[in-house]
Amino acid sequence: MILGIWDGHDAGAAIIDGNDIKVAINEERCTRKKLDVGFPKESIMACLNYLGLKPDDIDTVAACTADFSKTLTRIFPSMKDRYYLLRRRKVYPKFAHKQKDLKYKLTEIGASFPTKKISEWAIKRELKKLGFMDYDFEIVDHHMAHAAGAAYCSGMKKGLAITVDGVGDGLSGSVNIFDHGKIERISSISAKHSLGIFFEHVTNLMGMRELEDEGKVMALSDFAFEVPDKDNKMLDFFEVNGMNLKAKYSSVRMWKELKKILWMTPPEQFAWMAQETLKRKLVQLFKNAIKETGIHDVVWSGGVASNIKANMEIRHLPEVDKWFVFPHMGDGGLALGAAMFLNYKKNGLWKYNFDNAYLGPKYPEEEIERVLREHKSKVRYEYDKNIEKKVGDLVSKGNIVFLYQGRMEFGPRALGNRSILASASSLKCKDDLNLKIKKRVWYQPFCPSILEEEAKKIFSDYDYIERFMTMGFMVREKMMKKMASVINIDGSARPQMVTTENPRYRKILERVKQKTGLGAVLNTSLNLHGFPIVNTPEDVVDVMIKTKNRYMAAENYFVELK
Ligand SMILES: [Fe+2]
Repeated sequence: MILGIWDGHDAGAAIIDGNDIKVAINEERCTRKKLDVGFPKESIMACLNYLGLKPDDIDTVAACTADFSKTLTRIFPSMKDRYYLLRRRKVYPKFAHKQKDLKYKLTEIGASFPTKKISEWAIKRELKKLGFMDYDFEIVDHHMAHAAGAAYCSGMKKGLAITVDGVGDGLSGSVNIFDHGKIERISSISAKHSLGIFFEHVTNLMGMRELEDEGKVMALSDFAFEVPDKDNKMLDFFEVNGMNLKAKYSSVRMWKELKKILWMTPPEQFAWMAQETLKRKLVQLFKNAIKETGIHDVVWSGGVASNIKANMEIRHLPEVDKWFVFPHMGDGGLALGAAMFLNYKKNGLWKYNFDNAYLGPKYPEEEIERVLREHKSKVRYEYDKNIEKKVGDLVSKGNIVFLYQGRMEFGPRALGNRSILASASSLKCKDDLNLKIKKRVWYQPFCPSILEEEAKKIFSDYDYIERFMTMGFMVREKMMKKMASVINIDGSARPQMVTTENPRYRKILERVKQKTGLGAVLNTSLNLHGFPIVNTPEDVVDVMIKTKNRYMAAENYFVELK
């Protein structure tokens, strides 16, 4: 058994055994601190408990990243706590610019022999506290872990694995060829030329939270008009040379230059310019990599792979044949990626059947019933063997229903086990969700879950089964009314296509199809604003009471607020 751990931004743990991914969870779901950082003590315990294991049962531990700044925060964890509060804008910075200057200078320094040794000592010290005594240990390179996750979960035997993020182990990206498990790096993009940091700066300058609100910048860019290239002052910030990137400015100087542009630009235009720049540079990088290697099947990971608008543009390239985005593309997926990398290195294993992301813990019905009983002054509940029909009917009639069942999703998206469901066509539902439950900005779109067999009818560019909401598809003109609450202003949507991996969810969608003529619902993550997706039955009942949402299906229990 291999335990993968990640102790940075969006910390987490995963256990694999042979060719099976047994369990994977992120720290935020346990500590209830969104995108929590630090040693993933709770995630490790949750993984062990889920499988009924003890630390002795683990043969190998795979950690990730040993660059200078990561090592420093392992020695002084309080630095991480402070940065977490700053990044999430919970405290006001005393020396904002100095802190930023220092951060970017330090993070650009890669791993070395001493940082690896110190990191190993610091991580083993924490593992010892949990009872880990005798095990093999290795720290996997940051971008190798990103690439391994994408390559080994893609179902492809051979292809290109491209990674682009902010920074990790001195790099901000890489191009790799994978072939029957072997991953060979053919290009390394330095942290000094980081597209991820560029987009992070843009997010931050617009008053939003870095590493969290980049999707809002992308969404806002839809509400701007296009400008000619000569007026987009960001386009020359990066040059794509073959399979590499070159930034015009240092990270610190780039911040200052962006600030000047923002001063003279309306925010939505600023967002558009940044999105356009990111998209164009990525498209060029992918094109060049395909041309130079002659390989047309591509897998893609790293934080920047969460940009679904850029993903859609890349997928539409005639050069791209098969395509896969690792569903937990950001650093939250590193624990699993690192474990997989080591599983190949040690055991030669690399094939995983990754057709769903339900890798987290599950809670038995007795426990759900116990929690409901404890709250019986606030909720009434009944056992219903046909609960899917009831949920389908309620959603079709314009109600908002919480769906809590099975194993928790791994990654940022709720995929029908920790989801809020609503009508895919009702704009009123969308507004109610935004204003009363999710408390989100108005320009952030919601996404649909659909029956896979409806995909061709709904999307004009349907070409593969997208199960994880990592990709934009264009909605056909005639379907726009029926998809009104889950469509972006540019006519695209980011769907989850449901096949057989989630029988209960499928039944709900089938019932919605019977009632409305289309097997599609709005699906958004089940959480309180600013908090992670719910994990335990206590979490979900708490959200129901706090949001005052009337209906919930928790496994076979139909729950109604009193
Ligand atoms: Fe990363």
